[in-house]
Amino acid sequence: MTRLGVNIDHVATIRQARLTTEPDPVAAAVIAELAGADGITIHLREDRRHIQDRDLRLIRQVIQIRLNLEMAATEEMVRIALKERPDAVCLVPEKRAELTTEGGLDVIAGGGSLKKVIQRLRSKGIEVSIFVDPDPRQVIASRELNADAVEIHTGSYAGARGKALARELERIHRAVQTAREIGIGIHAGHGLTYQNVGRVTAIPEIEELNIGHSIISRAVLVGLERAVREMKALVNP
Ligand code: PXP
Repeated sequence: MTRLGVNIDHVATIRQARLTTEPDPVAAAVIAELAGADGITIHLREDRRHIQDRDLRLIRQVIQIRLNLEMAATEEMVRIALKERPDAVCLVPEKRAELTTEGGLDVIAGGGSLKKVIQRLRSKGIEVSIFVDPDPRQVIASRELNADAVEIHTGSYAGARGKALARELERIHRAVQTAREIGIGIHAGHGLTYQNVGRVTAIPEIEELNIGHSIISRAVLVGLERAVREMKALVNP
């Protein structure tokens, strides 16, 4: 079974567009859970452009399924995670000017300081994954830092067409193979849609997919419950 983590950042993005109270990501988390999501994923960004500290606190209290907090490996975020205790943290790179997370974290360059962050989170029972490009070297480096899992960046696959598509899929397969051989958990996400998720769910080693934009976009038109149910059916056919 592949877990579906529903990323609800965009619900908060709509709220922040008017700096008001609706739509509330806490309500979205509850509806996603009722619709069959296996987890809720939120990204608390340094600039608080969508998810707010209050959302994290309340969602943590309300949902029964897994809460996965995406965050930069900064002291501020580590402190927040240690206080709020999500089930899992996904360490991501963060740039102020980006529209969304652009690339994977460079685990090889991040080395020592990342290792300390991972150790602090894991010592409190928080599972740690690292968002990495589909590159076996990054997967191996993540294992060396004692991360529980890698989340393989599927954005290049999602954006690829023609011959590049097969090439990108092959990169994902190779990264998955490496992760399997060295015994680190395997998640994937970014840019996945109702149309392109099939080739990723066909890789049985992938334990968790985190999907946001496509689900929330469909939810605007057909409702969140139906959007989550339809994606869940594709993730676990
Ligand atoms: N995984 C990570 C690490 C991300 O940063 C994001 C985007 O917030 C996602 C998955 C979900 O990407 P998308 O919104 O394109 O489905």
